[in-house]
Amino acid sequence: MAAARRMLRWVVAAAAAVAAALALDNGLARTPPMGWLHWERFLCGTDCAAEPRRCVSEQLFVEMADRMAADGWRDAGYEFVCIDDCWMAPTRDEQGRLRADPKRFPSGIRALADYVHSKGLKLGIYSDVGKKTCAGFPGSYDHYDLDAQTFASWGVDLLKFDGCNSDSLDLLAEGYRRMSLALNRTGRSIVYSCEWPFYLRPVQQLVIGNFGLSWDQSVTQMAMWAIMAAPLFMSNDLRHISPEAKRLLQNKEVIAINQDPLGKQGYQIAKPAGTDRNDDHHFNLPQPKPWVCFLLGRTRTFSCGSGPCSGRAYAVAVLNHQEIGGPQNFTFSLTFLGNGLACNPACSIRQVLPASRDWGVYSWISSLSVEVNPTGTVLLKVLPL
Ligand SMILES: *[C@@H]1O[C@H](CO)[C@@H](O)[C@H](O)[C@H]1NC(C)=O
Ligand SMILES: *[C@@H]1O[C@H](CO)[C@@H](O)[C@H](O)[C@H]1NC(C)=O
Repeated sequence: MAAARRMLRWVVAAAAAVAAALALDNGLARTPPMGWLHWERFLCGTDCAAEPRRCVSEQLFVEMADRMAADGWRDAGYEFVCIDDCWMAPTRDEQGRLRADPKRFPSGIRALADYVHSKGLKLGIYSDVGKKTCAGFPGSYDHYDLDAQTFASWGVDLLKFDGCNSDSLDLLAEGYRRMSLALNRTGRSIVYSCEWPFYLRPVQQLVIGNFGLSWDQSVTQMAMWAIMAAPLFMSNDLRHISPEAKRLLQNKEVIAINQDPLGKQGYQIAKPAGTDRNDDHHFNLPQPKPWVCFLLGRTRTFSCGSGPCSGRAYAVAVLNHQEIGGPQNFTFSLTFLGNGLACNPACSIRQVLPASRDWGVYSWISSLSVEVNPTGTVLLKVLPL
């Protein structure tokens, strides 16, 4: 199940990326940003003659913005339309500025930003801390201020800053810092999405709605991203997406867990017997042993809505790592939550994924039995009574 393991590594990368982005206290990205990014689905398609609907072009972003506004994505919270690598012309202009490929972006990025804004959405763009981007286009090295000013003048709202092609780790770290300051100096609010120090595994997009994931794996990705408070960036084709994938990605209860104002990341609270020491507060997953059923309980507190919170509510995800066989029952005591206080004297439990369902009232001595499909996840909310 390499795909799912990769996915879990992305959780870690994504969560750390958002923590880095939060470091500058300018009021941006207080909850995980949500949007759409072209990379994982459309990669570096530059041949618009051969593949007009799949190449990285202004048409692609215009069509995605249209779908985001018309099909409920924007209203569900997905507000950024993000360009990834391969948007640029192969060289800078005479003034040394980055420019979009004139064939694929004939109207330019400024016009695209205006269009995206007219739909009530925001535009994200991509650059790289090194001399070249990962795909070999001009990087921002030695041009941090100029590029930040160029992006601000175009009306860009988010920068994904990649980490390829730096000569040394020091230059890389310094470059990330300098771009952060350069963005700040533009005076424009631009969310800064750092890939560093995870630039070797920049993939952190939701791939639900594409070809690679089964339904259970899709549920797992959505549940894990939610509980990890990871950025929700989809990379799929919103012009062709199944109703099931759309419902999952637009599930209000799941998004509310992801966007919880406390912004706490989930952590692993229970491990299968026979794995190593307890490293709850790190995100190292146990060594994969395909024949073992893993119980991964993840929990985090979230607020109780607008009123004062009488106790802590929790989200709990139970993930079945096993790929083969049928559904497995995992049974655990509720005392693991909040040092036994979460359900003391009682709590109500609601299943959010794979389908919403009220489980009723449980007391603190109850045990919970959760049936989970192979590679699937059951996501629960535990609400104090
Ligand atoms: C720039 O940084 C300062 C200090 O952190 C912050 O108060 C301000 O809001 C930032 N400006 C922008 C545009 O990000
Ligand atoms: C799991 O437990 C429930 C309730 O005890 C039971 O109805 C169900 O058949 C069990 N499923 C499996 C796969 O054992």
